[in-house]
Amino acid sequence: MNALVGLPWHRCNFYIAAMAIWRPALDPDSSNRATAIADAIAADVASGRLAVGDRLPPQRILAWALGLSPNTVMRAYDEARRRGLVAGEVGRGTYVRVPAPALPRGGLTPLSRSEDGPVDFSRNLPFTGAAAEELAATLTELGKEPGLADFLDRGEERVRAPQLAAAAAFVGRIGLEVPSSSIALANGGQQGVFSALMALSRPGDALVVEALTYQPVMAMALHLGLRLVPAAMDGEGVLPDAFEAAVRRSGARLAYLMPTLHTPTTATLGLDRRREIAAIAERREVTIIEDDVFGFLPRERPVPIAALASSRTVFVTSVSKSMAPGLRVGYVAAPGPLLSPIEAAIAVSSWMPPPLMAEIARRWIVDGTGARLNAAQQAHAARRQVLARRSLGNRAYAADPQGLHLWLPLPPEWPVSSFVAAAHEAGVRVNAGDLFAVGADKPSAVRLCLSHEMDDRRVEEGLTVIASLLAGGGRIVP
Ligand SMILES: Cc1ncc(COP(=O)(O)O)c(C=O)c1O
Repeated sequence: MNALVGLPWHRCNFYIAAMAIWRPALDPDSSNRATAIADAIAADVASGRLAVGDRLPPQRILAWALGLSPNTVMRAYDEARRRGLVAGEVGRGTYVRVPAPALPRGGLTPLSRSEDGPVDFSRNLPFTGAAAEELAATLTELGKEPGLADFLDRGEERVRAPQLAAAAAFVGRIGLEVPSSSIALANGGQQGVFSALMALSRPGDALVVEALTYQPVMAMALHLGLRLVPAAMDGEGVLPDAFEAAVRRSGARLAYLMPTLHTPTTATLGLDRRREIAAIAERREVTIIEDDVFGFLPRERPVPIAALASSRTVFVTSVSKSMAPGLRVGYVAAPGPLLSPIEAAIAVSSWMPPPLMAEIARRWIVDGTGARLNAAQQAHAARRQVLARRSLGNRAYAADPQGLHLWLPLPPEWPVSSFVAAAHEAGVRVNAGDLFAVGADKPSAVRLCLSHEMDDRRVEEGLTVIASLLAGGGRIVP
């Protein structure tokens, strides 16, 4: 018999909605229904049945479908929220949020480099060697500066204006022509990205990202209560159709993309795709935060998306990868109406980058030191990529000749977690591909960062271990 016959219309709609929804598989032994629903949410998130960004059914509809009181479902959702599984607000729905492991409980892994202990291919930092010599000369020069006290003040226009002009010249080198009045100074690219997210989103908003994305952005989204919406990629990077579908499906007004030397896949989006993404951003009124921190490493690259959709893109770069990672200076170029909220977000967390640091970056941009350091980074990265090719032989992997890392698909006999554990046991740290995955699709690949280690010999040893593991299909081949 048709279950809807005889029901009033509003009840029918309710019934139809209840038939098509996500339903928890409840533990029959559990005496507490609210806890059982929260446990089922946890299990479905872990298994991938619920993906980040999925919307849970409205409380009244789930209660109706399960034959429980709305109050029980409300308590279940509260419990899931306390466990960090879901986020949401009254009236905006309840969404699955980024899984808690995205934020390491014990804090971030130390960034320090060690000369003994495991070979570390897990940190994506460039080398610092060449910058140290330049720094000594620059500090001596600064010591003779009559206006040195200005760098100890906060935001002296005499100091800031030339630093912004240098920033405009810096981004001009990769094809982004913007006036210095469109740029904000930040404490590195990281703060630039976080400040843009802070300024341009509200809790519960959707944020479209590549299906594999920069881990700290997952943590940022978690902190800001944003729903991550993955857009599928191929070997070149994000697929325009998938990007548009993700925007349409989620109603997102904001996206975060890494079109140049993507982490972790190393992909660089070609010019045609950049044009397509720019056109979608214009058409769908989406603001793109374009993370270009690796953008100075490739010897040739397409212009930034920001140069193609200037009113729709917030462009973030820094001197970290091209000069030195400890020079904490980033630049954010944004269209007029977006710049001041981003500047306000930067000010909320740190006022500004230390003027003395920004001055070192300015001098290096203007006097050519920066270009020399960048060339040294490129040469260093290229040499490490040659070592990798030599060790990994004909094995297929993705890399850029001047990129800092490579993306290594694993053969079917190697589950990612076993490979990472075996590598660690053999003295090599690598990142499992699924750490970067936003949706349910977990890549069977690992990321190897080649520039963090100081010594070529250790890099070669580490690569030999990786090659042996791959060749041995589960065992180290002597
Ligand atoms: C993709 C990506 N974005 C942003 C950053 C932050 O860079 P910065 O050192 O300029 O803060 C990094 C640094 O590792 C990165 O890999």
